[in-house]
Amino acid sequence: MNNFIYYNPTRLVFGKGTIARLSKLIPAGKRILVTFGGGSVRKNGVYDQVTKALEGHERFEFWGIEPNPSVETVREAVALGREKQVDFLLAVGGGSVIDGTKLIAAGLCYEGDPWEIVLKGQASAQLPFATVLTLPATGSEMNSGAVISRHETREKRAFYGTYPQFSILDPEVTYSLPKRQIACGLADTFVHVLEQYLTTTGQSRVMGRWAEGILHTVVEVAPRALSGEHDYDTMSDYMLSATLALNDMIRMGVTQDWATHMIGHELTALHGLTHGATLAIVACGTMRVLRDQKHGKLLQFGERIWGIADGTEEERIDRTIARTEEFFRSLGLSTRLSQEGIGEATIAEIERRFNAEGVAYGEAGNVTGAVARRILEACL
Ligand code: NZQ
Ligand code: ZN
Repeated sequence: MNNFIYYNPTRLVFGKGTIARLSKLIPAGKRILVTFGGGSVRKNGVYDQVTKALEGHERFEFWGIEPNPSVETVREAVALGREKQVDFLLAVGGGSVIDGTKLIAAGLCYEGDPWEIVLKGQASAQLPFATVLTLPATGSEMNSGAVISRHETREKRAFYGTYPQFSILDPEVTYSLPKRQIACGLADTFVHVLEQYLTTTGQSRVMGRWAEGILHTVVEVAPRALSGEHDYDTMSDYMLSATLALNDMIRMGVTQDWATHMIGHELTALHGLTHGATLAIVACGTMRVLRDQKHGKLLQFGERIWGIADGTEEERIDRTIARTEEFFRSLGLSTRLSQEGIGEATIAEIERRFNAEGVAYGEAGNVTGAVARRILEACL
């Protein structure tokens, strides 16, 4: 096991009816900027619950943080926050509203343009903020990262350093989610675990088992979560799995990959494809191209998650990758670039961007532009 420091300051408030606790969780006397997406919270009652819970608090609203939040929108919110002299932010929505709010919180403590914070990759100061999560997927409610797009240059980049003070997770708010958002949320959760698990064997038994516990849970709850049954226990396990997959708990002392995510962000930046949908396409391509490097972990993953224990090692790996692709397809997601009409032009552009930045992602630091090309070609 490698050395590590674990620190996570976010208070997790989980369960039915917990939005009502907002008034006690936010310190009295704060001037609050409440941030929202495109309006789903008006239809499912979340807006009413938040408004009721915040009665008596001084608050202002910012609407319109879009999926794949843009710095252009964040700039507008920072201007409003300055004008109203807010000193606390509350994000009500999915990962996009939360990520956008993270940059608003940092942007309000920064003189220059918020995009400079994204380019630095790290926020040095931010206003305190909290979240009411409405879409289990990103883990943003309990981690310090945010991913921001810039429309003018078709870029999508991550920065770190902003943890929510607390996050409220009421599984009942997920009942209004469209099936496709649930599918993308399940895929995102699954691939977050793979990015921290499907690397090298022999680093940590407990991290391996913990990761496998989340993978098993996602596979088990997926059909019911997608059935539209609104089963509270199913949605609770889905919601908590998404948080645990990316709140730093399964990465203690182990190496991480993240190549699939970095390639996926480019597909979103260039084609607007939903985040989880990009991962369902790229993840198996990463496995195909890096199968030798990931050999031992692919065998472990295949045996422990899919029960694949017979045949030669290469046959087992073939079946493991095929079984994983089948899982993504069972969610109703595409697993090939061609299904989304994406081809050589995009592959060439992603290779060019990776080369221009001189990046090398993955647990072995070898996913360069050329390797990203091979991965994308393996998902055509
Ligand atoms: O905008 P509204 O009207 O609220 O509708 C949203 C949006 O259209 C809707 N929605 C959310 N909760 C709902 C609901 N509809 C009905 N009922 C509800 N309860 O769902 C749509 C998608 O929402 P979005 O927030 O975009 O989805 P998600 O949570 O998947 O967030 C995706 C963003 O997070 C980034 C992604 O790259 C992408 O930009 N990520 C952030 C990470 C992080 N901060 O750690 C890590 C991830 O890997 C990811 O990159
Ligand atoms: Zn993700």
